[in-house]
Amino acid sequence: LYPVGISGVGSYVPETTLTNFDLEKMVDTSDEWIRTRTGIESRRIADKSMATSDLCTFAAQKAMKDAGVEPEDVDLVIIATVTSDMAYPSTACLVQKNLGLKNAAAFDISVGCSGFLYGLAIGSNFIKTGACKTVLVIGAEILSRVLNWTDRSTCVLFGDGAGACILQRCEEGKGILAYNLGADGANGHFLTQPAGGSRMPASIETVQKKLHTVHMNGGEVFKFAVRSMEKVALDTLNDAEMSLDDIDFLIPHQANIRIIESVAKRLKVPKEKVFINLNKYGNMSSASIPVAIDEAVSKGLIKKDDIVLLVAFGAGLTWASVILKW
Ligand code: ACO
Repeated sequence: LYPVGISGVGSYVPETTLTNFDLEKMVDTSDEWIRTRTGIESRRIADKSMATSDLCTFAAQKAMKDAGVEPEDVDLVIIATVTSDMAYPSTACLVQKNLGLKNAAAFDISVGCSGFLYGLAIGSNFIKTGACKTVLVIGAEILSRVLNWTDRSTCVLFGDGAGACILQRCEEGKGILAYNLGADGANGHFLTQPAGGSRMPASIETVQKKLHTVHMNGGEVFKFAVRSMEKVALDTLNDAEMSLDDIDFLIPHQANIRIIESVAKRLKVPKEKVFINLNKYGNMSSASIPVAIDEAVSKGLIKKDDIVLLVAFGAGLTWASVILKW
């Protein structure tokens, strides 16, 4: 099996910023409530003219440039998203067209906020076995299109963005050292977008009842997030035969500062090793980890040979963790 690592990263967030103070004018909330309960101060909102594939295209162009990859080199595109442009074609096929990736296979995965890490695991296996040489993995969302902007308990939490990486063979002992994926479908009802599929097709009634938007039991998701992220991180460390002392940097899914602090505390990872940018972007679901990786790398926080632990939870319910040597 070939060793696999990330050879390029890129991200894109829309220009328009929606602050907590802007939200105060839209729903019965306050900057103080949102900041203290979630850590979020603002989020980016995609312009009406943009769809998820556009955000993906911008992020992917940067990742390909970073890796020095030409369009014809890409063998496979995997996009993790729960806000695809349309039911089909997949967003991956739209991005394949936009970027002229004429030799690439393309598909989307639906794993909620754990999607980018699932994408890394899937993409790395195609390279490990020799089936592919260059895989483009993207996490991207325009969650602002599927929020109920009159529901203060969800609309304050999310933002739009995209992050991408290129996976290729790397030196032995580097790159993706271990990963763990999991799911608990029995508790999936805690986080859903119920309408628009075959169970509940779009109708005037589903639109009136706002069933095409995010429905969440925040308290249950909170408890699940803390438990699942701690467990999957420890399992992945175990698989990599590492301890928490070996970790130079922790990048958790950016959903809520209190979730991140609880997980870091349970894992006994000091604050300075934990990357946080949710204050600026809110929860960008599958985009949150790749955008964080891109920012951490460009700020010089992740350096050559650093051991990085990525950990996420999401709709499904799902969880995932990846350990890599940069
Ligand atoms: N502004 C003001 N008050 C609010 C707001 C708001 N935006 N939202 C809720 N409240 C009120 C509630 O109505 C409630 O009022 P009540 O006591 O009069 O009924 C009160 O604040 C407390 O509400 P709780 O839900 O108990 O607040 P909590 O401290 O649990 O925080 C939150 C809610 C932030 C949603 C939290 O539960 C959370 O972060 N959960 C996890 C959410 C998450 O990460 N989801 C991931 C989503 S998707 C993904 O990552 C796949």
